[in-house]
Amino acid sequence: MRILGTETTCDETSAAVVEDGRKVLSNVVSSSALLQRKYRGVVPEIAAREQVKVIIPVISVALDRSDCSIDDIDALAVAYGPGLSGSLLIGVEAAKTLALVWKKPLVPVNHLIGHVYANWIGKKVPQFPLVALIVSGGHTDLILMTDHGKFRWLGGTRDDAAGEAFDKVARVLGLGYPGGPEIEKVASQSQSAKLESSKRLPRPMISEDNFDFSFAGLKTAVVNLVNRHLRGEESSHLGGGDISAIAYEFQKAICEVLVIKTLRAAKKFNAKSIVVGGGVAANDYLRSQLTDHGWKLAIPVFFPPKDLAVDNGAMIAAAAFWFEKTISPLKLQADPALHFA
Ligand code: KG4
Ligand code: ZN
Repeated sequence: MRILGTETTCDETSAAVVEDGRKVLSNVVSSSALLQRKYRGVVPEIAAREQVKVIIPVISVALDRSDCSIDDIDALAVAYGPGLSGSLLIGVEAAKTLALVWKKPLVPVNHLIGHVYANWIGKKVPQFPLVALIVSGGHTDLILMTDHGKFRWLGGTRDDAAGEAFDKVARVLGLGYPGGPEIEKVASQSQSAKLESSKRLPRPMISEDNFDFSFAGLKTAVVNLVNRHLRGEESSHLGGGDISAIAYEFQKAICEVLVIKTLRAAKKFNAKSIVVGGGVAANDYLRSQLTDHGWKLAIPVFFPPKDLAVDNGAMIAAAAFWFEKTISPLKLQADPALHFA
């Protein structure tokens, strides 16, 4: 079965053709991130305008690259939430129209569940029950999944999402947008410039017996540290070495909390696998720490390839294959605040 999936929840416009939920025939991503750079964050209006410009060319290139004609496509899938309402509307209305014109079934997919199903693309398949950690720009959630389509939300962030914290801390450190890859790059230059223990950042809620997170205080701790430097209360001004050391300590703090809480959930629910999805799943420190700790507990940890960790149409097409639930196109509405179904 070949599914054409589209994803337009934020500043990416993506379309992909995926066969049997596993084999990516094409995956085209156009991003307005470069246009957003000067604002150091996503401006929803700019994101939506770019979506309008590129949605049809992106879908058309995805079909071309897959070597499929529309007759070879069995169904369309679309991310209908959560996300920015202007961006979502463009993808959802485009998919509804194409489903009607091409007379194809339409499968609505929760964007976050798409991030989970990015882990089914490829050779090895995760086993149930599993614990899924979703870490994106707008979400940080832990989910127990007992079968395809059977989700139980265990907990999530009470304030900033993990990716949002990366983006905000990058801004405070004078780095570019998106902040996650920038922090990761700068942190990797900090081999010799570790922070003194007095400047160690907090690991919020790490010891609490729940599956919730809170990253706003961690971000404030970075802001306070930077301000102390700027006010001259620290011995040196904020140089490149300090920025690397802060970036390294921030990345370590946030990843430690994510790893410990995910492993605790996996142990509690006897998970046979751990899967991770969302843009922060592209972070190498998180990838290596969770994989190593999972290995010690004999729980395999799955991460999508980096290009399928960030928003993409392939994960939406994959989710639609495993968790198929069609809808009449005229009934589908974008849902910016969609939670787990
Ligand atoms: O899933 P995604 O592409 O879009 C949303 O659904 O939000 O995630 C984007 C987020 C951004 O906050 C970005 O800074 C973060 O993922 N991100 C990373 C890395 N690559 C992207 N965070 C940490 N390390 C990375 N390598
Ligand atoms: Zn996402």
